Amino acid sequence: MSDKLMDAAIAARESAHAPFSRFKVGAAVEDEAGRIFTGCNIENATYGLTVCAERVAVFKAISEGARKFTRVAIAADTDTLTPPCGACRQILWEFCGDVELVLTNLQGKSETLRLGTLFPRAFDASFL
Ligand code: THU
Repeated sequence: MSDKLMDAAIAARESAHAPFSRFKVGAAVEDEAGRIFTGCNIENATYGLTVCAERVAVFKAISEGARKFTRVAIAADTDTLTPPCGACRQILWEFCGDVELVLTNLQGKSETLRLGTLFPRAFDASFL
């Protein structure tokens, strides 16, 4: 199955700057108005300054004024669907809460789950 958000994540993956790992990732977030914001991973020669696709997509959305999100799609070329890394789970939780996540690959395999499943007992502003 494919849909607009998954297709956007797959297309965004093509823009990945991943000369060090060669592991390209694309992400797309959809806001409540149906707007789609995309991101790809952007690596750096220091390695540590690399930014994941998910964070690029979320930060682009926030910087464009989007605030409420309905779905996030993540695309990579792996048989076992690639989940968001730990840092991205924290950032996604901050801005998207228990959002619907769609993991997909280039073969058309996909899985839908909630962020809370991957990120239970998150630390967030409710503790402050
Ligand atoms: N990467 C992402 O963009 N998102 C993830 O959820 C996992 C990892 C990127 C970071 C790095 O450029 C490459 O994949 C290998 O870790």
